[in-house]
Amino acid sequence: MDPFKTAKEILENISNEVIDSPELLESFRMKYLATKNIIKPLFGEMKDVPVESRKEFGFLLNQLKQNAEEKYQQWKQYFEDQRKNDEQAQIDLSRPGDPILLGSRHPISIVTNRIIDIFVKLGFSVAENREVEDDWHNFTAMNTPQDHPARDMQDTFYLLNSTEYLLRTHTSSVQARVMSSQKPPIRIIAPGRVYRNETISARSHAQFHQVEGLYVDKGVSFADMKQTLLYFAQEVYGPDTKIRLRPSYFPFTEPSAEMDVWMGTETEKNKRLTKGTGWLEVLGCGMVDPQVLANCGIDPEVYTGFAFGIGIERSAMQQFEVGDIRMFFENDLRFLSQFKSAF
Ligand code: PHE
Repeated sequence: MDPFKTAKEILENISNEVIDSPELLESFRMKYLATKNIIKPLFGEMKDVPVESRKEFGFLLNQLKQNAEEKYQQWKQYFEDQRKNDEQAQIDLSRPGDPILLGSRHPISIVTNRIIDIFVKLGFSVAENREVEDDWHNFTAMNTPQDHPARDMQDTFYLLNSTEYLLRTHTSSVQARVMSSQKPPIRIIAPGRVYRNETISARSHAQFHQVEGLYVDKGVSFADMKQTLLYFAQEVYGPDTKIRLRPSYFPFTEPSAEMDVWMGTETEKNKRLTKGTGWLEVLGCGMVDPQVLANCGIDPEVYTGFAFGIGIERSAMQQFEVGDIRMFFENDLRFLSQFKSAF
């Protein structure tokens, strides 16, 4: 038997083998590549090949192995691809998809953004700052004396073992932040979360939101404040809305006032809302106390300003008829998903 001839025959057979099913591929593998394949015995014939032809014979045998392996791999890949295609063809494209849950704005964000939009139209820009605040920005700069009750542990959350750092009790701390780092004219609106050590109930919470406003420039007057706040009230409650300013007290404004909006007593709802008076309390405001300007490095002989602070939760409860303030902080989707369309 001529081993060369046998090898060449096998080489030819390998290329002629028809493989058109995974079963035939398996027979091909058994024949040429498995442990007992028909190429292997040829290696045993090497000793009978004349020395000068051994190199050539060795080359031929390697080629056999290589060709068989290549052909096998190609067809194996082919059948694998085919199987994957078949699987995909079985996917039912007419089946309804899994719905993608759309998020929605939190009611507090909705109300906050509405307020911001109104003041942005008047040329105010948004300023945000830290919730963990130091005593100076929250109290001292804001003219709040050392013995003021707001500084009491009863009312303020101080950081553990600290009399210096606290959770801000109002967004007025942003006034101090801005005034001590910017020069007038200053026109900012500062939304954010604030904290007070209050008993949590349906009507009050230890965390809530405010929007602070501050306007400092040469010649800013109480009349400017009143007109600005009237514009705000009419944007929120309608063009015929009436406001009144009641004298009040804040350590950082002088004079200070509280702004009420006339809701009337015609409807039961408004009667309840205004405790029978027809007036709804909306915000605290006043002319920035000259001492506060001075504390922040602004010359009170040159500049004046007004500031106001709007509570968000009460307004949101009223607008969306939410009866319990705790709902805003529970992240219950059954509650939150009700505000989908209220942008
Ligand atoms: N910081 C005050 C509060 O939390 C509100 C306020 C802000 C009053 C600005 C006057 C001016 O009640």
